[in-house]
Amino acid sequence: MATYISRNPANFADVVTEVPLATSAEIIAAAQAAHDAQPGWAAVPAPARGRVIAEVGRLFEANKEALARLVTREMGKVYAEALGDVQEVIDTCDFFIGEGRRMYGQTVPSEMPDKQLFTFRVPVGTAMIITAGNFPAAVPSWYIVPALVTGNTVVWKPAEQTSAIAQAMAEIFYAGGVPRDVLKVVLADGPSTYDGLEASLQKGLIQKVGFTGSTEVGRRLSELAARHLQSPCLELGGKNPMVVMPDANIDLVVEGALFAGFGTAGQRCTSLGTLWVHHDVYDVVRERYVHAVENAIVGDPFGDVLYGPMIDEKYLENHDKHLGLIQDHQTVYGSSSVGRITSTNPRRGFLGDPDSGWFAHPTIVDGVRPGDALYSTETFGPLVTMGVFDTLDEAIELSNGHGYGLSCAIYTENPQAVWRYRQGVSAGMMSVNNSTSGAEAHLPFGGNGLSGNGSRQSGIWVLDQFTRWQSMNWDYSGKLQKAQMDLVELPFDPGFRL
Ligand code: UN1
Repeated sequence: MATYISRNPANFADVVTEVPLATSAEIIAAAQAAHDAQPGWAAVPAPARGRVIAEVGRLFEANKEALARLVTREMGKVYAEALGDVQEVIDTCDFFIGEGRRMYGQTVPSEMPDKQLFTFRVPVGTAMIITAGNFPAAVPSWYIVPALVTGNTVVWKPAEQTSAIAQAMAEIFYAGGVPRDVLKVVLADGPSTYDGLEASLQKGLIQKVGFTGSTEVGRRLSELAARHLQSPCLELGGKNPMVVMPDANIDLVVEGALFAGFGTAGQRCTSLGTLWVHHDVYDVVRERYVHAVENAIVGDPFGDVLYGPMIDEKYLENHDKHLGLIQDHQTVYGSSSVGRITSTNPRRGFLGDPDSGWFAHPTIVDGVRPGDALYSTETFGPLVTMGVFDTLDEAIELSNGHGYGLSCAIYTENPQAVWRYRQGVSAGMMSVNNSTSGAEAHLPFGGNGLSGNGSRQSGIWVLDQFTRWQSMNWDYSGKLQKAQMDLVELPFDPGFRL
């Protein structure tokens, strides 16, 4: 039996947990159990399911610090961000507590007498949710909470790197009253997950796939789901632009770009991709940004640092691969070196022992332009690209040209620029004078193009992912009334003129 050893990415000696990995047969068995439990869960009155979410939310609140400590220890984001990750679960529960008492449908008039029309939201069935390691608490909750409250059951496949966090979260859900077959957690590698999902779809056990991760895997899962006439909920990559207009508040820009570019070691799907700066302020922004990045403290995520380690070795290797895309016409800033930070490749001011974790130097690549590999590659690590523009139209084109469309930001005091940028940009989420990261838990989250298929999570918008509309017409006239044929029309005078 294959096992996965989850280690603290800032301290390899610290084994957080060792878990057996599920085979595809075990994934099918989990899907079967969740599928069998679904009618019973859907029969629980929706307000009672809402109460369960209320209890779950309270328990996340009561366990916020303990879970956040585990997030920092197992995944490596700084403790303040880990608290935010858990807070986003609480916010999501808060938002959906009342949905159990709403799940509104409509009463709709009929075109015929003695007939009434209605709509109902019905659960989709059983969902397979596959999530990444970078937001190990918040992102799974964006799927699981609305799925459960609307009467679906869930099989959740978290990232192996965050196994202990997932198990702790599941225990909180169970303690809050979610039956064990209503939420199944499977820890598995990618190939077994794909095979288990494919077979579960073939057996009719899964009606919805939710996936947060790379565009490449999203495309494969989307093809698989489409073969079963399903449309998955996808939250994929981004190359999120931040546009700095000549009138921007430069202090805000530097602070926002530091957080967006290097928070979570750049491993957010909302992380800053390219900082596009207007020609007039380019030099000053670059100088101040480079200074801020060079002086930022990297290291122990429980300490006062900008960012901690990469999630694991795989993420660091990926980052190294992206460093290989730097071209001769570009200039590198940000640190004394690039790649992994070690005692022989040190970073000034590093907090802790670099050799015991997967730490990487912050890197700014200046001089990026369309056509460069780094213009259109999502880097998912502590690497920010910078480039120049002259007009807002050009900034819009640069923001869209790579095909990603998740998040974006514009810094300006000019409302006209804001509205024109909003209209032109293809991203699903836009910030004005705020970073590309930091979406609130009750606005629609998701992207377009290479960033997703238009599905949205969070707030009221995610309800359309986990419910389907059912319409009903009720004829109490006692006769067969035919729509579009038995017309009720009042007399009128078509020749009337004043
Ligand atoms: C993600 O990176 O998948 O907006 C989610 C943010 C967070 C969520 C990011 N609230 O940065």
